Amino acid sequence: MRLLLIFVVSVSADLNWWKTALVYQVYPRSFKDSDGDGIGDLKGVTEKLPYLKDTGIDAIWLSPIFLSPMRDVGYDISDYRKIAPEFGTMLDFEMLVRTAKELGLRIILDFVPNHTSNESEWFVRSQKSDPHYKDYYIWADGITKEADQEMLPPSNWVSHFRKSAWKYSEERGQYYLHQFVIGQPDLNYRNEKVQEEMKEVLRFWLDRGVSGFRVDAVNVLYEADPKNYGGRYPDESRSDDPSAVPDDYEYLKHIYTRDLDEVYTTIYDWRQVLDEYTSKGEYKFMVTEAYADVEHLMRYYGAEGRNGSVPFNFGLVDKVNKDTNVVEIKAIIDEWMTKMPAGKVASWVNGNHDQPRLASRVGTNRVDAMNMLALILPGIAFTYQGEELGMTDGFISWEDTQDPRACNTDDPVNYWKHSRDPCRTPFPWDGSLNAGFSTSDRTWLPVADNYKEVNLETEITALKSHYKFYRDVAAIRKCDAIQKGRLDVKALTESILVIVRWIPNAEAVVAIMNLSENTGTVDLSNMEMLTVKLKVVASGVDCNGFENK
Ligand code: GLC
Ligand code: MG
Repeated sequence: MRLLLIFVVSVSADLNWWKTALVYQVYPRSFKDSDGDGIGDLKGVTEKLPYLKDTGIDAIWLSPIFLSPMRDVGYDISDYRKIAPEFGTMLDFEMLVRTAKELGLRIILDFVPNHTSNESEWFVRSQKSDPHYKDYYIWADGITKEADQEMLPPSNWVSHFRKSAWKYSEERGQYYLHQFVIGQPDLNYRNEKVQEEMKEVLRFWLDRGVSGFRVDAVNVLYEADPKNYGGRYPDESRSDDPSAVPDDYEYLKHIYTRDLDEVYTTIYDWRQVLDEYTSKGEYKFMVTEAYADVEHLMRYYGAEGRNGSVPFNFGLVDKVNKDTNVVEIKAIIDEWMTKMPAGKVASWVNGNHDQPRLASRVGTNRVDAMNMLALILPGIAFTYQGEELGMTDGFISWEDTQDPRACNTDDPVNYWKHSRDPCRTPFPWDGSLNAGFSTSDRTWLPVADNYKEVNLETEITALKSHYKFYRDVAAIRKCDAIQKGRLDVKALTESILVIVRWIPNAEAVVAIMNLSENTGTVDLSNMEMLTVKLKVVASGVDCNGFENK
C-alpha cells in the first residue's frame, strides 16, 4: 500500500511541474564554449548545469541547437533531427539530457515550425518540383501587369526583416514566401504532409526525453488562402505607422499574414501529440511565442474542449521601461489574470534573445524589482540567461554585427536600432579572458565591455548582488504560498507596489517594490492576511540595512 501511495505522489508531481516552473532560457551559442572555438556548445551547457540547479531553476529552454547554415542564428533549420556540429553531437545532447535529469532539471527544446532553412532537403526538393515536396512551401507566380513589363512578386507582403517577403527562384520559375530572412522559406501548413512531418519532429525529440517545446513564431504559421481571393495572395493595406517606409515590416497592416484562425487549430493538434506522451507519466509542456494582443494570445490556451499551449506573456517586456510606474505594472498583471480562462496557467517574461536586456530597458536599479515580480507572480517565470546578473546590452560594431535584422538595414549608422546582438553577448562567468566563456582568441560576438564588473564570480563574492537576490527569491518561490497561494496586488503609491501570495491561516509571502529613488515607509497593517510578524528573507541590492542570505 505504502509503495502505491509514493507512486501516486510522484506521478502527480510529474504532471504538475510546469505550472510553477522557473524556466531559464539558454542561448547555447553564448552560454559556455567547451572546445575553444569561440562558440558556446552543448558540452558547455552540461558543464554549467550545476550552476542552474544552484540558482533554483526547474527547466531549461535551449534556443535552437539543430543543423543550420545560421542565417538567423539557428532559427533557420536545415535538418530538424540533427545537431549543429558547432554545438556538438547527438551523444552530447543525450549526455546533456541525462545529466539534467540527474540534477532534477528538465530540458525544453525550441521548435521552429514556420520555416525551414533554404538548405533543407525538403526545400531543395520542393524547388525542383519533386512531386512529394512540391507543395511543402508557399510558392506563387509573379505578377506581370502588361506583357513586356518587369515581373513583380505575388503580393506586396513585407518580411519581418525588411523588404519583400517573396524571393524568386530561377530553378522553379516561381516565388517562395519567407516571412523572415530569404534563407527561411515558410512551410505550407495547408498541406497535410507538412502537418504530419512536423508532428513527427515533435515525436522524434519526445522520444529522446525532452520535457516540452518552446514554439517559435506561431502566429505567422498561416497566410490567407488564395482560394478565397481569386487565386491570388491579397495585398495588405498601409498601417497607421507614419514613420514606416515601404521596406519596413511596420509599413503594412498584417491582416493576411498573421493571427489567422487556422493557427490555433494547429497548436491544439500539437498539444494532442504532446498529450500522447504525457499519458506516459511526465507532462509535456508547450509554450508558444507570438507577439500579439492579449485577446489573440488567450486563444492559444485552448477552445471548445481542446487544450492548447501556454502563450508567452510579453506584457512586462513590451510595456515596462525606465518610466513605467507601478499603477501601469499592476494594470499589466491584472489584464492577464482577468482575461486568462479559468484553470489556466499564467506566464511572465522579462527578456529573451530578441529583446534589449532588462537592465538596459528598465534601468539597472529596477532589475531586482522586475526579477522578483516575475518570480513571485502565479504561474511560469521565464528568465533569459544573464538577466539574473543584471547584464546590460553590449556594444557591437557594424563590422561585428551578426543579426540579420540589423544586417538587412544596410545602414552602418542606424543598424543598432534593429540589432538583437547586444543582448546576445557571451555569458560572463568571471573577470578572466573572454569573461571565462571561451579560451578562443575571438568569440562569435565580443563579450560586453563591463564584464569585469558584471560577472557571476563577482556577484557571488559580493555581499549583495543582483544574482544573490535572484537566487534568494528563487529559493522562496518553492514555498507553498507562491506555489499554490492566492494573489493580491496593491499599488500603494505610483512607485510602491505590494504583492502578496498567501494561503489563509497558513503562510504568506510579501514582495514590496519601490521604483522611486526615495526611501518610503510602507504600512502593511491593513492587509487582512498579514496578521503575523514578517521576516525579511531577500532584499535587493539597493535596499539598505538588509543582507542577502
Ligand atoms: C522568433 C525568434 C527569433 C527569430 C524568428 C524567426 O521570433 O525568437 O529569434 O529570428 O522567430 O525564426
Ligand atoms: Mg564551442
